[in-house]
Amino acid sequence: MKAESRSKDSMKNRILSGMRPTGPLHLGHLFGALDNWVKLQDKYDCFFMIADWHAMMSEYEDPSKLSRFTIECAADWIACGIDPEKSTVFIQSHVKEHLELYMVFSNFVPLGWLERCPTYKEQLREIKARELHTYAFLGYPVLQAADILMYKADIVPVGKDQVPHIELTNDIAEKFNSLYGSMFSPIKPLLTKIPKFLGTDGRKMSKSYDNSITLGDTEEIIKKKCSSMFTDPERIKLSDRGHPEKCNVYAYYNLFKKECGPKVYDYCVKAKAGCTECKKNLGGIVSDYLTDIRHKREELLKDKDKIRSILEKGGVKAGKAASETMDKVKKAIGLM
Ligand code: TRP
Ligand code: SF4
Repeated sequence: MKAESRSKDSMKNRILSGMRPTGPLHLGHLFGALDNWVKLQDKYDCFFMIADWHAMMSEYEDPSKLSRFTIECAADWIACGIDPEKSTVFIQSHVKEHLELYMVFSNFVPLGWLERCPTYKEQLREIKARELHTYAFLGYPVLQAADILMYKADIVPVGKDQVPHIELTNDIAEKFNSLYGSMFSPIKPLLTKIPKFLGTDGRKMSKSYDNSITLGDTEEIIKKKCSSMFTDPERIKLSDRGHPEKCNVYAYYNLFKKECGPKVYDYCVKAKAGCTECKKNLGGIVSDYLTDIRHKREELLKDKDKIRSILEKGGVKAGKAASETMDKVKKAIGLM
């Protein structure tokens, strides 16, 4: 039996993706997701969601900053080129149906599926500053499945780390269909090709490592962060020849101003210029690259009510699609 199709506003395939507003957005978000989302907007019917319930699962001890991060997240998205006229931009908690569908799925998702989930095990291992042995955190991917299946999304653009959640979403859809009748179709992850670059300390760029350059950083801060970047550890003295392919600074040059790559490569391997100078120049380049985004986000943040109204409008549109799905789901499972 064919799964139920959604009523489509357009013939375009639908995309849904989301981000958790747990902190300022940084270069990882820009190159790992946003740049890609912006390109998808014309071809697809896009839903972009600020996943504040998901953020709450890890920030429940001190959720006071979530609303600020939510507004800033929306400003960052728009500053990077997400167009709320083209795409539906909304806040997860504004659409009550997400928690309803999450509950429906919670009834039949076996604990084993969640306990086995590699992202769950990894987060418990790595995040020590938060107590994550909670009921909700275990169910994180169930809420994510509800987010995705709610909108009958065809494609979900995500990073590689999220693939287990997409697989789980498909398992949940299949189990729902086998219990209550065909409703959800399988979805495909669209893997975002992420350019190779790391945080300023040489580890993965992440808020929790305090090694990121954020979209709101001032020129001065960007320069300071760049000048403190880890470089080729084998290059100690100015006269040591460097290994640019092992240096994160060189990776940044290729990312932000590719045409500088050969020159940097040359002076590095021939020990013709020092790392301090190399990093100083990089600071200027990164700052220039982000100037437009920085100014736009500043402008947008001057009128937070306008951002709120964009998110409300998006919420109404998402809510329509969500209530259609929930009506069908409730009927299928036999609730009045
Ligand atoms: N788990 C995702 C992340 O941490 C955020 C997210 C929540 C999401 N719901 C989603 C991503 C639905 C894609 C689709 O990056
Ligand atoms: Fe890295 Fe530049 Fe130093 Fe070479 S000169 S090791 S590319 S910082």
